[in-house]
Amino acid sequence: MRQDEFIAQGTGLLPEKGEVSWQSPSNIALVKYWGKKPIQLPANASISFTLKNCYTSTKLSFQKANCRTVQVFVDGKEQASFLKKIKTFFERIEVYCPYVKNYAFKIETENTFPHSSGIASSASGFSALALCVLSIERKASSMKDEGFYKKASFLSRLGSGSACRSVFSPMGVWGAHEHYVGSSDQFAIPYADVNEVFKSYQDTILLVDKGEKKVSSTLGHGLMVGHPYASSRFDQAKNHMIDLQKILKEGNILAFNGLVEKEALTLHAMMMTSDPYFMLFKPNTLNIIHKVWAKREESKVPFAITLDAGANVHLLYPDQYKQVALQFIRDELIVYCENQQYICDEVGTGPLLKTESYA
Ligand code: DP6
Repeated sequence: MRQDEFIAQGTGLLPEKGEVSWQSPSNIALVKYWGKKPIQLPANASISFTLKNCYTSTKLSFQKANCRTVQVFVDGKEQASFLKKIKTFFERIEVYCPYVKNYAFKIETENTFPHSSGIASSASGFSALALCVLSIERKASSMKDEGFYKKASFLSRLGSGSACRSVFSPMGVWGAHEHYVGSSDQFAIPYADVNEVFKSYQDTILLVDKGEKKVSSTLGHGLMVGHPYASSRFDQAKNHMIDLQKILKEGNILAFNGLVEKEALTLHAMMMTSDPYFMLFKPNTLNIIHKVWAKREESKVPFAITLDAGANVHLLYPDQYKQVALQFIRDELIVYCENQQYICDEVGTGPLLKTESYA
């Protein structure tokens, strides 16, 4: 269904050409989005921490043209393989941003982390691109910040569902849920009703496998249609959203850990029980999980793990345990990481406009 409130208004004086660049972060979901309805509407509400160090930097150069052309460069190299998803994105947003039909676009993008490794590069990538595109519209209209970020989230969603949450910090909520005022299936909303401890939460990403995933998230979402456990999974997610709201406000870390790990394991259980079934866990994913649980038991440091649609493990903990965590990783977990690599990340402050120039 068309969302009329997002159709561009009063954009008569669009720039002839220009360049705009944004830096936009990845996010890690605590209650996961897994399963969707056309087009890009979630089967259940989800909530994530917006990250700080894992981000995409995108520069969009544009020049008026008779029809749209798009070139994509990743890390300085032209990448035709990304064009399909980006073309679909432009087709989906045309009704809301008709001006995208008449520009020649050049997209230059870089990630601070490996793409297609289970770290949501589509989340940072599409949010960065949506913010760049919408900046052209903002230049020619009187869009206020609130409307700008709301529409940016809406457009990001049409590129990749989880991308719509990356626009906001410290957390983003996507999907209509009666306990979250203003929440919607169409766009994410910022969520900050959280105890101080969660505003600086740490997420160290242990890179178990940096290769391309065998099954994309988009395919996995599709397999939730007709999945034997789908409806109980969606009910569970709905209840987890309610429970998590209280946990976040009170700063109840033990309850947080229980809920977040259950979400991560349920996500992968859905993959292992779909038809056809698949598994993104690697032996070292399990090795890390067991080590973390043993360490938690022995040290009483409240470590928790979560997973995205990939083999990498996100180690979550309050920032007061940073030194202990890094020592633990170096001593016991690094052996399970590909090329001993991990990324130290934490809750961040959202996207950043880097440069803009219009003519
Ligand atoms: C497991 O947002 O990558 O990371 O909408 O098809 O692009 P598409 O899928 P995507 O799925 C993310 C799934 C997840 C959970 C989450 O981030 O909520």
